[in-house]
Amino acid sequence: MEKLLEFKNVRITLKNRVLFENISFIFHEGERLMLSGENGSGKSLLLELIALGMSKDLCERYSGLEVTGEILDANGNDLLDPETGRKVAYVAQSEETYKNSTLVKQAEIAANGVGIDLDEDKLDYLLDRFGLSEKKNQKLKNNLSFGQGKLVHIITRLLKLPATNLLVLDEPLNHLSFKNSKVLNDIMLEEIKNNPKLSIIMVSHCNAISFVNQKMVYDYDTNRMVKKQYHSYDCFE
Ligand SMILES: Nc1ncnc2c1ncn2[C@@H]1O[C@H](COP(=O)(O)OP(=O)(O)OP(=O)(O)O)[C@@H](O)[C@H]1O
Ligand SMILES: [Mg+2]
Repeated sequence: MEKLLEFKNVRITLKNRVLFENISFIFHEGERLMLSGENGSGKSLLLELIALGMSKDLCERYSGLEVTGEILDANGNDLLDPETGRKVAYVAQSEETYKNSTLVKQAEIAANGVGIDLDEDKLDYLLDRFGLSEKKNQKLKNNLSFGQGKLVHIITRLLKLPATNLLVLDEPLNHLSFKNSKVLNDIMLEEIKNNPKLSIIMVSHCNAISFVNQKMVYDYDTNRMVKKQYHSYDCFE
């Protein structure tokens, strides 16, 4: 399978505090990786670098951020170069609630953002599965609970997948009920069945998930990500 991402000796520091040391690994198309580790270890920062690359906005939010080494995309372009473009489906850990527009409009904007038309049948299917159909044509502002907001972010990013094989998820189960966590797990298994090239990098602490097959855990002593065997509890079955 094609190489999608390569970390070469990446070191990440925040105001002289070392978060990551000597991160080196290759991630291939079709791989599905869970990242896990203590709160504050830098998982979300690492995920944002993977999803969006080194942006001015990231440097402004994480004051004193320095990253050395290389993070190469499938074409060998370095994501630490702000000029490198990116086309991924990325659900951040926490995102702004959408402003004064409808869910269907937001879904259209997400799809158009990666150069494709909205697949409205798929939107309807996803909304139905997550019990959100009635929200489709409503304005989103002040209209969603935390869990519903997270689901809208997940749904809009799943609609980008025809344009990219890389899905990046930061704690997607946060705020979700057990039922909707199971639905998400089922939907991801369907997506993978339909597209075996689908590649997932996800931060999560939940071993119930059965759509990943690899795990890396943050090691505080060495500031490295250490590969571990992944075993799902399979309690969604
Ligand atoms: N805006 C910021 N400016 C400077 N440092 C920050 C900022 N936000 C977070 N940090 C620091 O960056 C480190 C990494 O944060 P990050 O959000 O990546 O951690 P995390 O591993 O995702 O944690 P969690 O499990 O709580 O989501 C934290 O230790 C925190 O102290
Ligand atoms: Mg985080």
